[in-house]
Amino acid sequence: MIYEIKNEKFEDIKSDIKIVFIVNKNFDHKWVKEKESLDFLNFKGESEESIFLNESKTVYVGVSNLDHDEIRIACAKAIKTISKTNAKSAKIALYIKDCPVTNTKALIEGFELGAYRFDRYKSKKENLNLEEIIISTEEYSDKNFSTDILKRAVKEAKIVSDAVNYVRDLVNTPPDELYPEILAQKAKTMAKENEIECQIYDENYLKKEGMEAFLAVSRASRHKPRMIHLSYKPKEAKAKVVFVGKGLTYDSGGLSLKPSEHMVTMKSDKSGACAVIGIIQAAKKLKLPVEIHAIAAAAENMIGGDAYKPDDILTAKNKKTIEVRNTDAEGRLVLADALCWAQEKLNPDYIFDLATLTGACVVALGEYTIGVMGNSEELKDSVIKASKLSGELASKLPFNRYLPKLLKSSVADICNISSSRYGGAITAALFLNEFIEDKYKDKWIHLDIAGPAFVEKEWGYNPSGASGAGVRLAIKWLQKEFCSNNHK
Ligand code: BES
Ligand code: ZN
Ligand code: ZN
Repeated sequence: MIYEIKNEKFEDIKSDIKIVFIVNKNFDHKWVKEKESLDFLNFKGESEESIFLNESKTVYVGVSNLDHDEIRIACAKAIKTISKTNAKSAKIALYIKDCPVTNTKALIEGFELGAYRFDRYKSKKENLNLEEIIISTEEYSDKNFSTDILKRAVKEAKIVSDAVNYVRDLVNTPPDELYPEILAQKAKTMAKENEIECQIYDENYLKKEGMEAFLAVSRASRHKPRMIHLSYKPKEAKAKVVFVGKGLTYDSGGLSLKPSEHMVTMKSDKSGACAVIGIIQAAKKLKLPVEIHAIAAAAENMIGGDAYKPDDILTAKNKKTIEVRNTDAEGRLVLADALCWAQEKLNPDYIFDLATLTGACVVALGEYTIGVMGNSEELKDSVIKASKLSGELASKLPFNRYLPKLLKSSVADICNISSSRYGGAITAALFLNEFIEDKYKDKWIHLDIAGPAFVEKEWGYNPSGASGAGVRLAIKWLQKEFCSNNHK
């Protein structure tokens, strides 16, 4: 999509179609021309309600207020309606609450994320005819802004949305087309295009590094594991942040096989790995003043004569021994080794992991919300704050003194599952915590993205399929922490 910012009144701009928001049911605004028709059609102007009037070629969308996420969702609704028409160009005005940058970005993100379709495997594609969206600098309440600021906002939002859609494409790709080796190839191509450093490690390297837990998970698969390391090192970086992603290109559950209804969609178990690849892409394009490392730990969890088993005892890279009691709790095994590696080799200021780690997180928070876990309240709070600005939902899940005991093993240092059926998202995080060195305890954040990473029934600006969860949250956190001119 091409975006053009025009310093002209909304009504003076020529386009095939126009987009008008009904804000808080105010039908008396000057841009609402068909009050009577809308009334006749029973259009109430509720949030997420949208209608197209052919006479005036107008898409009306209700928004309950000017919060940025209302705008994002409204834009997604508008583009969905427009996609059914032959319109090539559309126009919209500005809707600003406090910060012009935030809401202009939301506008673009709503369009870009809402227009996304994964139709690579459809013989018949429904092409979007719309090519151009013209943004008038006229504002809903006549506020004034510099065009330069708006232009930059559009450019930045496009970068972030492109990264999210890139991640969605990766995650949506079926498992026999995207296995660890292919993910590594794709990461390499992306890195080359964006001048990001890329190092791919194969199973021999993992063996040499003593990453037995990672290797055990992938052993039964005909597809060999890969650890992908991307790095972006700007001059005068303000900090070094490492993102580690769970990259199960398929999670069958292994010998603790998943029931068939739970197995479908498990191509999405690579969402964390894909997200970290997207995060570094966006960070590089945005030229963020932060050294970033993305570690994607890619493996396939399968069954077979060579499969790892419940009762096996594995030795992780940090020499801790793990009693396997359930081979479906594989993500934590892969991440344990990848986290150890990242701490040992990279000496980070902050270390994040992103993972579709537990169904329990979805039970706890619902399918729209990322679970935020870690040892530092302050760091977790900063992530929650960033989430509120990003449009991604995130909520803390607290550690306590009792839960760690549930991971005790009678034969090894730790068990890969909890002895209780409750609190599974937190006990999974506490398992990872066993592989975080003391000096990194307060610098580590675990994001369980199992809920929002894969959308079963479309919501907000997410069509069904991969959502690209974690990318916008991470970028917003980096901007908030390390960019002085970031706009609230
Ligand atoms: N990849 C799954 C978690 C998951 C579940 C992601 C649903 C997305 C949607 C993970 O590897 C897993 O299977 N976890 C088990 C852990 C259990 C065996 C302790 C789970 O959540 O049931
Ligand atoms: Zn699993
Ligand atoms: Zn998994």
